[in-house]
Amino acid sequence: MITGASSGIGAAFARQLAAKGKNLILVARRKERLVNLANDLQQHYGITAEILAADLSNLTDIEQVENHIAEIENLDMLINNAGFGTVGRFVEINLSRQIDMINVHIIAGVRLCRAALPGMIARHNGAIINVSSIAAFIPTPGNVTYSATKAYLVTFSEALQTELVGTGVKVQALCPGFTYTEFHDSSEYEGFDRSQIPKMLWISAEEVVTSSLKALERSQVIYIPGFKNRLLVAVARNSITSPLLLALIRRKLQK
Ligand SMILES: NC(=O)c1ccc[n+]([C@@H]2O[C@H](COP(=O)([O-])OP(=O)(O)OC[C@H]3O[C@@H](n4cnc5c(N)ncnc54)[C@H](OP(=O)(O)O)[C@@H]3O)[C@@H](O)[C@H]2O)c1
Repeated sequence: MITGASSGIGAAFARQLAAKGKNLILVARRKERLVNLANDLQQHYGITAEILAADLSNLTDIEQVENHIAEIENLDMLINNAGFGTVGRFVEINLSRQIDMINVHIIAGVRLCRAALPGMIARHNGAIINVSSIAAFIPTPGNVTYSATKAYLVTFSEALQTELVGTGVKVQALCPGFTYTEFHDSSEYEGFDRSQIPKMLWISAEEVVTSSLKALERSQVIYIPGFKNRLLVAVARNSITSPLLLALIRRKLQK
């Protein structure tokens, strides 16, 4: 099951897992996108791809996905990928969008993990990828709830994996940096210019997914795709360089 499968990283996971012969359940709000992707993958790879239209900021829809998980007898992979960003100072931007973000990133992620785990543990087979971000390590001004929800997913995944040792279930917090997807095309990012970010920091969704699946094979719990992103996170976590990085980000945002 892949949430946020209608575009970007989620769709790339769908394509790469279908190519490996996995049957899929694709979850997102845009049903037509899911139908087209499912048809395409079924035709190309001879798999079955089911679709589930759900708004994961809505608790009733989250429950619907949980109930679906309870009915599946062989769910061996859950990818909590649905997500979005907002732009602007926490105190100034729409609060309900921040609550929606907490629901999509945290509440849906946690509830779907809780729904999937009993079956995975009983079968001694399973993998969960929670899609976080390098923002989890960089408490960025203008991105407060985003950084905080993504940090939750890192700690949650890391702690969960320690509980799951010996169960046959793996957990990964996938922490991409700037990735070419539709993420920055939303109305919230109106006026955002990708060229503001150095080109060398951008990576493709396909590359994120390929390297994440490889990292899962070697049981890497926190995985940051791309050497430059790993370097950026190292700078952000170092007590001497971190204030410099944050000052640089603040200056860039003020321009
Ligand atoms: N692109 C980046 O630079 C970047 C960097 C680090 C981390 N990430 C993370 O990567 C994940 C995937 O994002 P992306 O880059 O692939 O962006 P994207 O192309 O915009 O894809 C986001 C996906 O999430 C789904 N989604 C958003 N809100 C939803 C909701 N309320 N209910 C259900 N599904 C919802 C969207 O589907 P519908 O609109 O059809 O519902 C879409 O399939 C996100 O968690 C994001 O935070 C992205």
